[in-house]
Amino acid sequence: MEIIEIPANKLNAKKFIRDQVKAIAKAVGDGSAITALSGGVDSSAVTLLGHKALGKKLTACFIDNGLMRQDEPAAVAKRFGKLGIPVTVLDARETFFKALKGIRDPEKKREAITQTFYKKVFGSLVKESGARFLLQGTILTDVEETVAGVKRQHNVLQQLGIDPQEAFGYAVVEPLLQLRKDGVRKVAKALGLPKSVYQRMPFPGPALAARVVGAVTPENIELVRKATAIVEEELESVKKFQCMAILHEDQFPGLREGKREFGRQIEVRCWKSVDARTAKPVWPAPGVLKKLAKRLTAEIPGVVSVTYNIAPKPPSTMEAV
Ligand code: XMP
Repeated sequence: MEIIEIPANKLNAKKFIRDQVKAIAKAVGDGSAITALSGGVDSSAVTLLGHKALGKKLTACFIDNGLMRQDEPAAVAKRFGKLGIPVTVLDARETFFKALKGIRDPEKKREAITQTFYKKVFGSLVKESGARFLLQGTILTDVEETVAGVKRQHNVLQQLGIDPQEAFGYAVVEPLLQLRKDGVRKVAKALGLPKSVYQRMPFPGPALAARVVGAVTPENIELVRKATAIVEEELESVKKFQCMAILHEDQFPGLREGKREFGRQIEVRCWKSVDARTAKPVWPAPGVLKKLAKRLTAEIPGVVSVTYNIAPKPPSTMEAV
């Protein structure tokens, strides 16, 4: 089925919300639905739409896959609790790390996360809850890049010919399919979500696993999580679409306190973009980069090298994996 795009400049957010609330209520009927909340603008907007359409018939879950940013599970639960939407946090860290063990290939990592999410973790959650619908925040860019073979977005199913009903035992409802990120932000704002959510930087479905080159181990994730917190803090006031820290796999020779030390390399990326289809690197002031290098090497044990990405998308992609 062809998806008809609604560009952000033609979007009437209020009407879109009314239409989608009606559509969700109709699709779910007298059944119930679950939404997997990650705290990003897409899943937050979908949760609010679902809540408007279904009220208590919607269960909002935060799946802690061990790959999220610092303090994210508690922060998301608190934020939505304040909006009157209780969030169930499910600890699935072990399951995800087990599924990712030994996988180095980027597409295989994405596939492992997809299978673990939809089949194992969500499959049993849906079964236990009796819900027949999963509400999710897939956007047009996710679909296009997956179908074009650029990158397998973890949340794209139907467009790849996967019938979730047949494969996982539940139907997927995707109210944001016609929008890109800029459109979703308009909808999120109109839904009354706080600015910290509707202006939030995008964060990928495979989470920090998209930022680890090579093996996704709990140790590597912890390292990139710390680096992410520093990068986000130091680049907070820089005008950008998205910024990130990437952990490289090789051991780099370094020198600390007069002794040779083989350590790790962090690559910092900071992007200007409108809709993530293309992007250009931001050129931060040298002082900003200097401070990043200082903090990343001083505060994260084992990091001896920091680089800054200067290649645009294309040919780069924004995430590393
Ligand atoms: P790339 O790396 O493909 O990223 O240039 C483009 C934008 O998409 C985000 N991204 C994802 N979002 N699921 C998502 O929901 C995914 O699997 C995924 N992969 C990348 C990325 O953060 C950037 O904003």
